[in-house]
Amino acid sequence: MSAHVTIFVDGEAHEVPEGLLLGHALHALGNARLRRTPRSGAPRGLFCGMGVCFDCLVEIDGRAAARACVEPVRAGMRVRTGR
Ligand code: FES
Repeated sequence: MSAHVTIFVDGEAHEVPEGLLLGHALHALGNARLRRTPRSGAPRGLFCGMGVCFDCLVEIDGRAAARACVEPVRAGMRVRTGR
């Protein structure tokens, strides 16, 4: 059984398995939509799941445009989506 850590998604605390990729954790928490395209407002979320498409961009600990699918969760991580 893996240890769990607390992350904050849009200000809300969640317990997730340590080391899980953030994109997978967000999806499991019901966040299929992570952002919207600037021009059309079309929803985006996990697509390739391997760091290629940039559809999963979120803000992590103040760092804009981070790919959720390649970031392991860390204790205290603060994530802001663009839903
Ligand atoms: S889902 Fe494609 S880069 Fe993250």
